[in-house]
Order: sequence, then structure tokens, then C-alpha cells
Amino acid sequence: MAVIALASGKSSGVTCSALALALSSPRPSLLIEADPAGGTIRAGYLQGEGSAQVGLHRLAAADRQGTLDREFRHHWVALDQEHSGKRMLLPGLTDPAQAPSMARTWDALAELIAVMDGYGYDVIIDAGRIVPQSETRLSTSVYPAPLLRAADVVLLVVRSTQASVLSAAPAVRVLREELAQNGTGADALGLLIVEEGSLTSSHIQQGLQVPAYAALEWDPDTADVLTHGQFKKSGRGLLRSARSAHDRINEIVTRRRILTRPAPVQG
Ligand SMILES: Nc1ncnc2c1ncn2[C@@H]1O[C@H](COP(=O)(O)OP(=O)(O)OP(=O)(O)O)[C@@H](O)[C@H]1O
Ligand SMILES: [Mg+2]
Repeated sequence: MAVIALASGKSSGVTCSALALALSSPRPSLLIEADPAGGTIRAGYLQGEGSAQVGLHRLAAADRQGTLDREFRHHWVALDQEHSGKRMLLPGLTDPAQAPSMARTWDALAELIAVMDGYGYDVIIDAGRIVPQSETRLSTSVYPAPLLRAADVVLLVVRSTQASVLSAAPAVRVLREELAQNGTGADALGLLIVEEGSLTSSHIQQGLQVPAYAALEWDPDTADVLTHGQFKKSGRGLLRSARSAHDRINEIVTRRRILTRPAPVQG
């Protein structure tokens, strides 16, 4: 069980990486499309499958009516063609203008995610591009900051190119401070490197002063399937590297949980 949030400073592959992690998770997974700029997976990877009546945009109203706990599960759709129930998606907002209406609901969702974790799910959160409120704080009015605060790890997605690393630097500062002050600690933050360019992992870690928690292969064929539709032919590299990423992330999550959670009372 792990709650893994992904975010970026500037678009760098958050949605593709979140999908790759959700589809290759060793346990049942729930992918929450929490990007305040809106969701793209239903129209893209799922090719418009499923009713527009379900999704995150409906949960703010459910929260106001006091029915969020009951309705949460009804807003998931299957991510796998077999509809096995093991790969689920909570589709994202259908319009960025809905983001402010979610402000009061993110905390309640963070609590529900903790329950999913207890049921053995890996929860993967696509938190899109961060929206800062200041140099050291995330916006709580239009950004799902409570989901990042509650996550075991927050992966800042960065490509191995100079431009991507430079645009990630301000996001590092905000996320590190936010997680140190309001989350489970600054060490929840790690990089997820998408290997597009020639910069090495150690170069990127040194440049940003953040550890690399995992890396994903640059694999345009599979990324194209994840972006535009599940029925196209895909390569293997991205999903294979996503499985390895899980092994590494799980080690980090286990270590962090042992260090950050109180020891059981003896006797
Ligand atoms: N590992 C990868 N290999 C090759 N191409 C990739 C990979 N990851 C993402 N891409 C491509 O990069 C583009 C942007 O990816 P994606 O939509 O996942 O980014 P994003 O960070 O979610 O963007 P946004 O902030 O706009 O939501 C897409 O065309 C996608 O196919
Ligand atoms: Mg995206």
C-alpha cells in the first residue's frame, strides 16, 4: 500500500507517468485525476468510455450533501479492458472552473484515500502542475494541497533536459517547504525522472538538491497509447520501468512509514 502523488512545475509527463504507475502497480490501484486544470484520461486513454455523470466534479456536491463517503466508490471507472476492478480511475474535473468548488472537499478526500490504503490499494494521484500561493506554500483554494500533504511520497516529475530541470527548481522550493510544514516531512519529496534527455540522474539530483526516487524510460509508443487510447499498439519500456519504479518507491514508503509513524505500545 502506498499513496503516491505526482506533480510538476511545468508539464513534463505527469499524466502518462501516473497512468503507467497505476497500470503496473503490484497491488490493486486507484488513480485519482486531481489536476485542477482538468482531467484528460477519460477522453484520451479511455477513448470517451464511461458516463460524464461520474467523476471528481460530482464529489464537491456529494460532500456538501454529506454523502461523499457513500458516493465515492460510485465515481470510479475501470482502467483495464477486463474490468477486473483492480485498475480503477476517479476521472478528473471536466472544466478548470470547477477547481475552486473542490477547496473544501480535498481534506475529506484525503481521509477517504487513507481508508483505501487500509484496504490494500495503491493510490496514485495526478496533481498536475503545482499552483503556488507563495514561494513556500501551495494554493489551497484551487490546488489539491491536502492530497499532497497526506501522500507517502510526492514525486516531482522532471525530464532529463536542462529546460525541464530549470522549470522544476521553483516547484522544489514550494513543495519542500509545504511538505515540511504541513505534510509528512520534506523527505516525502523525490524526483521521478522521465528519461528524455541526456542529463544523468546524479546531475539532476545535484542541481535540484532532491533525491531521485525513480525513473521512467522515454518510450514515445507507449506514451502515445497512454495519451490517446488503450486500443493502439504499445511498446514495453515505459511499463517495465514503471514496475521497477514501484519496487523502489515501495522501499522508500516502507522506510518512511517506519520512521514517521509512532511505534506500537509494548506490553
Ligand atoms: N515516458 C515518456 N516517453 C515518451 N513520451 C512521453 C513520456 N511521458 C510523457 N510523454 C509525452 O509527453 C507529452 C505530455 O505528457 P503528459 O500529458 O503526461 O504531461 P503532463 O505533465 O500531464 O501535462 P499537463 O500539465 O498538460 O497535464 C505527451 O505527448 C506524452 O505522450
Ligand atoms: Mg496531465
